[in-house]
Amino acid sequence: TYIVTDACVKCKFMDCIEVCPVDCFYEGENFLAIAPDECIDCGVCEPECPVDAIKPDTEDEPDGKWLQINAQYARVWPNITVKGTPPADREQYERETGKFEKYFS
Ligand code: SF4
Ligand code: F3S
Repeated sequence: TYIVTDACVKCKFMDCIEVCPVDCFYEGENFLAIAPDECIDCGVCEPECPVDAIKPDTEDEPDGKWLQINAQYARVWPNITVKGTPPADREQYERETGKFEKYFS
């Protein structure tokens, strides 16, 4: 499966959504999640993200942190298939790291 990682938090460009052939993106307020059990590993979304937030799960943290986060939120957030408006202030978060811990806890 592919996973959405920290770079997406507060940036949410949403260029990834419409290319997914199985519509497996789920939308939170500041972040998107891929449903790991729906993703068919096509890899089409990966190059679409301007901040390189999408990765194969082989590049996850050793403890599988992002796979868990994607699975957890994809279960509770609504499915999204059409690109919406990205946050107006996204550029100020583009180079920040550790955003998930900062803005989700
Ligand atoms: Fe969708 Fe393919 Fe990306 Fe998986 S890898 S989320 S199936 S576009
Ligand atoms: Fe996030 Fe990148 Fe998609 S910032 S919403 S993973 S295009």
